[in-house]
Amino acid sequence: METRVLPYSEEAIAEAARLILAGEPVAVPTETVYGLAADSTNGEAVARIYEAKGRPCFNPLIIHVLSFEDGKAIADLGPMAQHLAEQHWPGPLTIVAPLKADSGIAPLVTAGLPTIALRVPAHRAIRALLEAVGRPLAAPSANASGSISPTRADHVLKSLGGAIPLILDDGPCPGGIESTIVTEEDGEIRLLRRGPIQVPGAETVASTAIQAPGQLASHYAPQKLLRLNATNAQENEYLIGFGAIAGASSLSPSGDLVEAAARLFDLLHEADASPKARIAVAPIPDDGLGLAINDRLRRAAAPRQ
Ligand code: TXA
Ligand code: MG
Repeated sequence: METRVLPYSEEAIAEAARLILAGEPVAVPTETVYGLAADSTNGEAVARIYEAKGRPCFNPLIIHVLSFEDGKAIADLGPMAQHLAEQHWPGPLTIVAPLKADSGIAPLVTAGLPTIALRVPAHRAIRALLEAVGRPLAAPSANASGSISPTRADHVLKSLGGAIPLILDDGPCPGGIESTIVTEEDGEIRLLRRGPIQVPGAETVASTAIQAPGQLASHYAPQKLLRLNATNAQENEYLIGFGAIAGASSLSPSGDLVEAAARLFDLLHEADASPKARIAVAPIPDDGLGLAINDRLRRAAAPRQ
């Protein structure tokens, strides 16, 4: 794939919005780092973020919206979180809060969790893009998995060139450090990731509450026992199919890993809620997005502590 780099302009934003509405991820600067943005209401678009980054696992992503009001339509912000939002939005503060049932956000965004990370960015480029797309944008930092966060269009090009169709270049990011992440728990603000915004009072819980990216204790896993690499359903098993193995429902009848990633958390929830006592999953090829799908399935199959 050829990666175009377009300087910020009205036409560039229109082109970026067109690609995003067509389900493609686009790199765009924010006030912290460049993000790799996709339509958060389209599971396959979100899967393409993971595909482009080559992430071997699904980490929940941050959702970007234009305003506090837009944020409240997606998540239930507690009183303390609302207060912080009023003080710091738009700006480099991300709030993790319970996801509303009718939010329309694809389950892959939250990796199946009942909470969502939300922020209202201040940078003109992502704001113009949000305006043009008219939907919340999921955007992790725009770098390949395992490399450092990009603060210039060239960094993105070096890391993701050939993997994404477009980089919007609006110069270096003013901040350079990823947003502060907080959550409200039991009437207290807890710091999940340190960043540009200091939250007084949250520091004290910080040292114990910090969860390094990718090491979230709270990843979604089904309640039921799960068997991997299943070619047929045993008694009382709900079989999740893939490709030639049909199952009770299928991650992707055509064997498409983008579709499978987009459907993964939906089907795990469905299997968990079914009358069957156990879950089985058809084999998924261990390459590309299949690596992240298999990582999640292996964790779901591992015995609980
Ligand atoms: O400044 C930033 O925040 C940049 C720009 C692009 O907005 N974005 C960014 O995204 O740093 P990312 O995906 O690299 O980091 C998102 C972090 C991860 O550490 C993830 O574990 C955490 O947010 N996160 C997302 N959803 C969460 C949730 N529901 N609960 C706990 N942590 C969550
Ligand atoms: Mg990152």
